[in-house]
Amino acid sequence: MSDLKAIDRQLQQSQPSFLETLKTLLRIPSVSADPAYRDSVKQAANAVLDSLTKAGLKGELIKTDGPPLVYAESPAVPGKPVVLVYGHYDVQPPDPLDLWVSPPFEPTERDGNIYARGSTDDKGQVLTHVNSVAAWAAAGQALPLQVKFLIEGEEEVGSEQLSKYMAKPEAAEKLACDVIVISDSSQYAKGQPAITYGLRGIAYYELHFTGPKQDLHSGSFGGAVTNPANALAKFLAKLTDDQGRIQLPGFYDSVKPVADVERDRWKQLGFSDDQFAKQLGVGALTGEAGYSTLERRWARPTCDVHGLWSGYQGEGGKTIIPAKAGAKVSFRLVPDQDPKQVSEQFRKFIAMNTPAGVQIELIDLHGGSGVVVDPESPFVAAAQQAITAGFEKPAVLIREGGSIPIVANMVSALKADVLLLGWGLDDDGAHSPNEKFCLADYYRGIRASSYLWHYLAEVPKPS
Ligand code: BES
Ligand code: ZN
Repeated sequence: MSDLKAIDRQLQQSQPSFLETLKTLLRIPSVSADPAYRDSVKQAANAVLDSLTKAGLKGELIKTDGPPLVYAESPAVPGKPVVLVYGHYDVQPPDPLDLWVSPPFEPTERDGNIYARGSTDDKGQVLTHVNSVAAWAAAGQALPLQVKFLIEGEEEVGSEQLSKYMAKPEAAEKLACDVIVISDSSQYAKGQPAITYGLRGIAYYELHFTGPKQDLHSGSFGGAVTNPANALAKFLAKLTDDQGRIQLPGFYDSVKPVADVERDRWKQLGFSDDQFAKQLGVGALTGEAGYSTLERRWARPTCDVHGLWSGYQGEGGKTIIPAKAGAKVSFRLVPDQDPKQVSEQFRKFIAMNTPAGVQIELIDLHGGSGVVVDPESPFVAAAQQAITAGFEKPAVLIREGGSIPIVANMVSALKADVLLLGWGLDDDGAHSPNEKFCLADYYRGIRASSYLWHYLAEVPKPS
């Protein structure tokens, strides 16, 4: 029988070392999007492996054609469910750098938070599980079930290498599990932990518009040719109508309406549009007509432009018709929408909306399907007990709008349940300057994770 009191004492005692492990990992600039950081990405993989072996697990790096996968496991416990913890050690680019109060890769404590790129997304959250395993070992307690870890280095750019690995027969064996635990999302609000039972999918593209063979004087040639920048702006504007509905042919065919039970459940959350608008610094919230803000963010597909380029960006004016224009665009998808089908729909839309005088090239960057899991599963009930112990408050059930592209693939390949237990906060600034993670949530997350092993071990192993 595990001695939870001994583990609790250990958690208290180990706080300084938990903080050190976090800072060590946060100092490594593991930006997966930018090849200039390739060595640091590898270094982060080694640091994660190191923390897992120090926690008493048997670990290894699995080589890929990109960043390695970090794998580790504790001893098998027959008859008990097997857990797979998934997370990522890569981070988003830190720019714009001038907006950071302290440098992104020099973890700095301010008002109970730790500020650094990757603090909440996802290094801090991953380490809650690594540290909880370390605490069980330090307290002299054997884990009551087998825990496996798979921590990858490409989540922020679409998990291409992990997808390839998942297709190999050895992956199914190595990663075999009953439940996947992921902490890479947020609580509902400060002081209100959550269990997330749905994520949106994503289909991400680059668009390249090409017009004349070189930039032209806009006085001499304006009026005679299609300006690729004008064409791009018009094209992007046509992607949605004034009701906020996406115009790709067939886009909504597989979109399920928001279920009444979910609508009712979310109404109980007491979400305030005014507060949310204030938090974001916007004068109004907008989106698809006929849906509440939570429905729009969690259960409806959307289209957003992430980057735009064309023409002259320097000081002062330059009167040209640029030869090229481009954009990065993605669609957030809801379960049952297939990113591959969206690509076909997008190609049709492009064929129907290419003006004379420009060529449009579509580059399919990456995609992943959304997921919705059964909130009634016994694993969810176990997680609820663990969170109540760790956060001293029961969790509410939510969905989230973000994407973890590999999850749908893992759930179907491993035939496992999934628990999305986010310890972050909406205002943590993930992907933004001054990203932070609340240290109290870090320690509460570690405690909840410690209890999670105990409660998950009480769930009958699915046959
Ligand atoms: N931690 C996020 C996923 C997330 C965000 C979950 C918000 C719940 C709420 C993850 O690291 C992430 O940012 N994923 C990317 C994936 C994309 C680049 C393929 C995302 O959602 O943009
Ligand atoms: Zn992220």
